[in-house]
Amino acid sequence: MHDVTPAKAGVQTRLRKTCGLLLAFTALVFISAPLRAGEAQPIVIKFSHVAAPQAHKSRAAEHFKMLAERYTEGRVRIELYPNSQLYKDKEELEALQLGAVQMLAPSVSKFGPLGIRAFEVFDLPYIFAGYEELSKVTHGEIGRELLDRLKSKGLIGLAYWNNGFKILSAHSPLYGPDDVLGLKMRIQASKVIEAQMWALGALPQALAFSEAYQALSSGVVDGTENTPANMYNQNMYEVQKHATLTNHGYLGYAVISNDTFWSGLPADIRASLERAIAETTPVADRFALEENAAALEAMRQSGKTTFHEPTPAERAAWRAALLPVHDEMASRVGRDLIDRIYAATGHKVPAR
Ligand code: LMR
Repeated sequence: MHDVTPAKAGVQTRLRKTCGLLLAFTALVFISAPLRAGEAQPIVIKFSHVAAPQAHKSRAAEHFKMLAERYTEGRVRIELYPNSQLYKDKEELEALQLGAVQMLAPSVSKFGPLGIRAFEVFDLPYIFAGYEELSKVTHGEIGRELLDRLKSKGLIGLAYWNNGFKILSAHSPLYGPDDVLGLKMRIQASKVIEAQMWALGALPQALAFSEAYQALSSGVVDGTENTPANMYNQNMYEVQKHATLTNHGYLGYAVISNDTFWSGLPADIRASLERAIAETTPVADRFALEENAAALEAMRQSGKTTFHEPTPAERAAWRAALLPVHDEMASRVGRDLIDRIYAATGHKVPAR
């Protein structure tokens, strides 16, 4: 999946050259034109992401832009690039590392391929029983430590923004794990999500978000998992006849920047941007919560997808099939990290 083909290598080389020039140009601007309000060119921050323009991630990014430009009194201009219009999932991380863009908000599931496997702990099925347990991690010591690990990849983690809890969907009804057996399921590029699909007897296919709809509509894959908001905003519900409200796993974002770029910003600008991010986080989480509920309702109304609420016995069967993934993936994400999350959330440790 992450092999570098000659075509990709060519793209990467071109990207590196472009970025080298960009970095040199940015350095020149900083050195030759000290910023004075109203005189110098604003610092441009390109914020790229893969979600649809109407999605809550876009609306959160717009809110951040509004606050950031206000607090920096125009000394910073935030340019938003939603919908994978600049880069797809993997490319956007490379572009950030190389300095071609300055901010992203990828799903934390996408940090594994970058080499920071600990983030895949968020992908463990049922690791969080709900938002309260989740926020003990994202707003606590563990969340901070995880963001700090991004530094080893030249990145800086600035905040967590929620999307929500995932549901399963397919062309056929999914009452229990047996119904997923042999289905090709689109997933994000996370080894924990891959193991989760294997545990169900499904065939995981890691595809970029921008490719998910096409893969589902053409039958390249039979089903997927995602939040209601993502399923709705990408029109996946139009090509998935059935969905089951499993809420079996979490999908959320880390707002990140290039560490060298961020630490090179004038201190007062950096402080203003961090204030804008901190004030956007609760707004982003509210947008996500509201949008997931509204998306589910809109998809139900459309009549294109039939939504199934699992019975208690069905829920128990999903859990029994998926919980072994915690132990199976412990050596990848860290046994200690998993245990610290159990302790922080007070979540009942799944039977080992
Ligand atoms: C996905 O690939 O399914 C999500 O990470 C997309 C997103 O950014 O919400």
